[in-house]
Amino acid sequence: MIKPDAVQDGNSGAILKMIEEAGFRIVALKKTQLSSERAGQFYEVHKERPFYGDLCRYMSSGPIFAAILEKDNAVADFRKLIGATNPTNAEEGTIRKKFAKSIEANAVHGSDSDENAEIEGSFFFSRFERF
Ligand code: CMP
Repeated sequence: MIKPDAVQDGNSGAILKMIEEAGFRIVALKKTQLSSERAGQFYEVHKERPFYGDLCRYMSSGPIFAAILEKDNAVADFRKLIGATNPTNAEEGTIRKKFAKSIEANAVHGSDSDENAEIEGSFFFSRFERF
């Protein structure tokens, strides 16, 4: 997902370019805006965390891009490409180092396992088409 801060700042194209240059194939891509309730469902695993309310507000504050990406070792390689959750800890050359503003407005989200990639892909897309 490209998060509201990055979309609002006009960084979507640059982020998608970094993703493609890193060898990912964009299988599906959609611009949409989450309601606070939908954002809450997406991040349900964090619902006991102190930042959950702010996260839901932030994630519904503007449009996002949802994408399904394909690559060998995609989950681990994507997490390497995006960098640490907190941009202060993100390595040079990562998407978050370049574009994230804070631990909350951190430009992108990536699934943390193949299983969650399936769940999160299905959250945004009714079926996975290959073009
Ligand atoms: P993401 O990888 O999308 O997963 C959960 C999100 O919660 C995270 O990125 C951040 O945008 C947000 N978040 C806000 N505060 C924190 C925090 N203290 N620790 C982890 N994630 C946080």
